[in-house]
Amino acid sequence: MRPDTPAPTSSPTPSPTSTPSPTSTSSPMATWYYSRPSDLQTAIMAVRAIGRGRNYPVLITGKPGVGKTAFSQALAEGIGAEYLYSLLHAWTTPDELIQSVNVPGVVDKRIRKEQGSMQDGILLQAIKKSQQGKKVVLCLDEIDKANESVENLLLDFLQNYRVPENGILQTAKDGSLIVIITSNGIRELGEPFLRRCRRLHMKTLPDPIIVKMSCGLGLSHKIVKTFWGIVSRIQRSDRDSYITVQEFKNFLDEVSECRNQKMIYRAFYAWIVKSKKHYEAFHTNAEVKKSLEKGFSFLGVKK
Ligand SMILES: Nc1ncnc2c1ncn2[C@@H]1O[C@H](COP(=O)(O)OP(=O)(O)O)[C@@H](O)[C@H]1O
Ligand SMILES: [Mg+2]
Repeated sequence: MRPDTPAPTSSPTPSPTSTPSPTSTSSPMATWYYSRPSDLQTAIMAVRAIGRGRNYPVLITGKPGVGKTAFSQALAEGIGAEYLYSLLHAWTTPDELIQSVNVPGVVDKRIRKEQGSMQDGILLQAIKKSQQGKKVVLCLDEIDKANESVENLLLDFLQNYRVPENGILQTAKDGSLIVIITSNGIRELGEPFLRRCRRLHMKTLPDPIIVKMSCGLGLSHKIVKTFWGIVSRIQRSDRDSYITVQEFKNFLDEVSECRNQKMIYRAFYAWIVKSKKHYEAFHTNAEVKKSLEKGFSFLGVKK
């Protein structure tokens, strides 16, 4: 599943660094993804390494919403690889990444006969698919939420692309597996872990790109640009409370249904204004006020 509405394939090239159709073998990224030069460089490096058997895991860091998970998905789509995904969390255990208990198999004899009482974890699944000759992109999302024992278990996997299964080491086929790990930076990662990864830090996309990718929800470019101007002013008032592209798109979706100014104010409170500082900026900043009036007039909405 795609993370969101993709940019229509017929739309003009979204950014100088964006890539052609996913069906094109020269492009490592899907069309809906807006690549920064550093993204593209990393993707090309990862793809070139496929087949050479020397691909490094990629660790993507950056604030929530900058496109880390979307990158892994766009890469898989772009190169026609199978996409395997696991969202890690505080209660993820190292074992379940390799093999986990198949609960229905444990409680029901018939299911146990068919499926067994254990099932492959995400690492073993990725390895087995690669052994079958498939290209695989494995995304281990938000490693910083999992505890250190998970990080330690991954050390050997990241180095050798192998895990034990019933005492036998299963190894991925050379260069057919790309591993993407993401972190929002909640917990610092250990030095041995960092050493094994090719690191990519993602910053927020430039304003014109955000505006471009947020068009297409029934609102004109000038309306989207005006509202993004307001949102970035509100955002600047509180660096600790981050407004993502996703929230902005949800906001625009709601705005496109608004019939009066009151409803638009409500959409701001519902998706954009998240902290006291945001609230103050929204109500006291003269530029925000001016842009809001402009937005209302573009939309032709009355009080
Ligand atoms: N570069 C990008 N190109 C296309 N969509 C993006 C991009 N960055 C973010 N998005 C949009 O923002 C949403 C959130 O991005 P996501 O990858 O989940 O962020 P993160 O994993 O960094 O928290 C995605 O579902 C996607 O719709
Ligand atoms: Mg994510």
